[in-house]
Amino acid sequence: MSIDLVSIEEFSHNHVEYIEDPFSFYALMRERRPAHLSGKIFGGTWLMFRYADCARLMKDERLSNARSAVPLRFLPDEQREEFADMLDIYRRWLAFHDGAEHTRNRRQANRGYVPFTDAYLEPRIQGLVDRLLDRVDPAGFDLLSEFAFPLPAMVIADVLGVPVEAHTELNRWTDDIAHLFGSTSVPVAHLRRTRESTRQLAAFLASEENARRSRAVGGLLHQLREIEVRGHRFTERDVVAQAALLLFAGVASIRYLIGNSVHALAGVPTDQRDLLQHPETVGPAVEELLRVCTPVSFVGRIAAEDFEYTASDGTVVPLRKGQPLLLYVASANRDPEVFDRADELVLDRPLPNPHLTFGIGRHLCFGDPLVRQTTRIALTSLYRRWPELCVPPQEPNWNNNLGFHGFTSLHVNGGG
Ligand code: HEM
Repeated sequence: MSIDLVSIEEFSHNHVEYIEDPFSFYALMRERRPAHLSGKIFGGTWLMFRYADCARLMKDERLSNARSAVPLRFLPDEQREEFADMLDIYRRWLAFHDGAEHTRNRRQANRGYVPFTDAYLEPRIQGLVDRLLDRVDPAGFDLLSEFAFPLPAMVIADVLGVPVEAHTELNRWTDDIAHLFGSTSVPVAHLRRTRESTRQLAAFLASEENARRSRAVGGLLHQLREIEVRGHRFTERDVVAQAALLLFAGVASIRYLIGNSVHALAGVPTDQRDLLQHPETVGPAVEELLRVCTPVSFVGRIAAEDFEYTASDGTVVPLRKGQPLLLYVASANRDPEVFDRADELVLDRPLPNPHLTFGIGRHLCFGDPLVRQTTRIALTSLYRRWPELCVPPQEPNWNNNLGFHGFTSLHVNGGG
């Protein structure tokens, strides 16, 4: 793709050319227009591309995370009413809260997560990985549909204490929600579908049967109902909303991370891939895959007040209260100001690897240990079984929004 400054206004998360190769666009923007006002996106949105600005703004208290309704901005007020029940779920997500309310809700969810230590999860995740890999045909299989799609939904379902067999529905429901938040424009027909998926996901999480099941196994869904922190408990609607958030946040992101990683690793010599097999080298290798293959392209914010921000190139960014910003972590992760050989996958890149894949500051990803563990077990197991695993040349099928960047299918074979 040839992108020039003239075509920047065409940039959207749903434009296939940007989905196929966002990285040359990011490079151009980091250099020439690191702070850019897009008139087209959500009626006027600042897009930030450099590491320094993304990191600083993610921690800026003048910005808010109360952005649940941003994707519906294009709708007239009377039409937005139709989606009030859907927005009521998203508005309750701890990710979309600020200040003391955010701290309280995050602490509460954290307390519920205490039993899910790495040691507890390790054999459970390994069991799910093995169950899926035992079924594939090493002569040729679709890494996504046969492995990377089911696995994260099964892992998070297992943590919640709901049936892992529900992974197909969990993928479908959360994908509709992910499409809404990963896009810069969605047709009303998709909004209606998302509303229905959100309703079905909420009904699944609220069902008596799943409440009983989660209680019996001490699952997180049950913990969220039970935990009391300084006299505060989540309401039933909050419990369902936070559980839906964990599924939305984790399912598509881990799926695409695994797919992107296998695609990137196909270009790496086998002895480099062996770094995944050793306890002392697998950690840095996974961090580097998180940096280069991040599936979450951006983090959103809205201005909580009118103020001026001076970007790293000196551009003065005048922000109006309520105005959205998109901070492109996928671009920050390849900023040559911070990373040597920024576009290369350097599996033995020394730690700490300061990528922004999980954000930074108060809203740092809640699921980062689970992501690291699941990805490590998935990749180590794949290459332990098939050290020569290859990805034959093919036209990749991309997910339809840049927010969640990755392949929807990837044919691989065990090689050898
Ligand atoms: C590859 C996988 C993942 C990536 C790249 C990722 C990325 C992110 C990022 C960038 C943020 C920060 C957003 C912000 O600053 O507003 C975030 C927040 C969050 N993530 Fe993840 N995530 C992943 C998987 C997960 C998983 C598996 C879970 C849970 C099961 C999860 C739960 C959350 C939650 C609850 C928040 C909100 C935290 C808060 O606002 O305090 N994520 N994630």
